Amino acid sequence: MSKLTFENVSRYYGETCAVADLNLTVSDGEFLTLLGPSGCGKTTSLRMVSGFVEPTSGRIFIGDADITNVLPEKRSIGLVFQNYALFPHMTVGENVTFGLKMAKVGKAEQETRLKEALKLVQLEGLVDRMPRELSGGQQQRVALARSLILRPNVLLLDEPFGALDKQLRDYMRAELRALQIELGITTIFVTHDQDEAMSMSDRICIMNHGHVNQIGTPEEVYRTPANKFIAEFMGQSNILPANIVGSGGKMVTIRVAGATLEIDAPSYMDSEQPEVLIRPERISLQPPKGTGAKAKVIDKQYFGSLIEYAVESQDGTTLSVTAATNNSNHEPSEGDMVMLDIDASAVFVLPQREASHRP
Ligand SMILES: Nc1ncnc2c1ncn2[C@@H]1O[C@H](COP(=O)(O)OP(=O)(O)OP(=O)(O)O)[C@@H](O)[C@H]1O
Ligand SMILES: [Mg+2]
Repeated sequence: MSKLTFENVSRYYGETCAVADLNLTVSDGEFLTLLGPSGCGKTTSLRMVSGFVEPTSGRIFIGDADITNVLPEKRSIGLVFQNYALFPHMTVGENVTFGLKMAKVGKAEQETRLKEALKLVQLEGLVDRMPRELSGGQQQRVALARSLILRPNVLLLDEPFGALDKQLRDYMRAELRALQIELGITTIFVTHDQDEAMSMSDRICIMNHGHVNQIGTPEEVYRTPANKFIAEFMGQSNILPANIVGSGGKMVTIRVAGATLEIDAPSYMDSEQPEVLIRPERISLQPPKGTGAKAKVIDKQYFGSLIEYAVESQDGTTLSVTAATNNSNHEPSEGDMVMLDIDASAVFVLPQREASHRP
């Protein structure tokens, strides 16, 4: 059992609070991503698990064992960083078996595990190459093999694909996730790339200024962000002022961007003028017929598979709208008048609180 638990973990550097009262359990075999802007405490959180940084307060457990004061080399943790840090004067094979040699594992066992580890990351043929003779993606896979050969209980990955180009990143994401599922290894992955977080994770823990703001599945954090920071951080968003103009039962009628919509009233709504989140892909632009809210297209950018519009509604609100480029969509041009078709079920009333914690 190798679940990982942070219990009230904080880390200060002098006056600076790098991580504030972190409470988080990563389940056995789970792939959890720490996501957040630069300086929010992601690396510090990982380093406290690895043992290279000591928490100022709080405790960390692997399974039921308190590892807070255990030496780094005794924690059974695999670490992979952004700049792979391979030994340049050692071959791939020597790099990968380095940890086993340090642990005085016998030669025969080293050979068996080396074969197994290189097979996992599909580098069997490159055992005698030097790091400088490898591509970035191959070097990154050597770094991964070097961690996996030690059969750690927990794998920590700190922006491991930061140095790779986009195509290789996409490839490595899929490779790593498949490998992680195959091995069932409890993993914390750090990134500040929200697409990477969304596509790879079982759950995402979003941090800001050392505080956890929300923990949830990719879909939860995208659809029901705990606050405005997360709504803006996770993908493109329209965050708009709304007015409540009527209510009945569990529904309320709101006016937003010139449109009148009937939406579910969330239990936490306590303002007559809430802010609402509407994702750009949940608005569609129709020919300007009927009584619906009208807007003018003020910008149109073509991205191949989709078009991004900026439109200005009659009450002066600017909205982003994205549309898939398929033949059935109405594709207005800059300057055209359109009718806004907003999916009422896509209107999410933002909670007012600034930070929330959903363990
Ligand atoms: N050794 C240190 N001494 C002093 N302050 C530190 C130290 N390490 C980190 N900090 C501070 O702690 C905060 C969190 O840093 P951390 O490296 O965990 O951020 P991060 O989320 O990993 O950021 P990035 O995305 O830029 O890597 C920052 O304000 C940073 O300046
Ligand atoms: Mg970092």
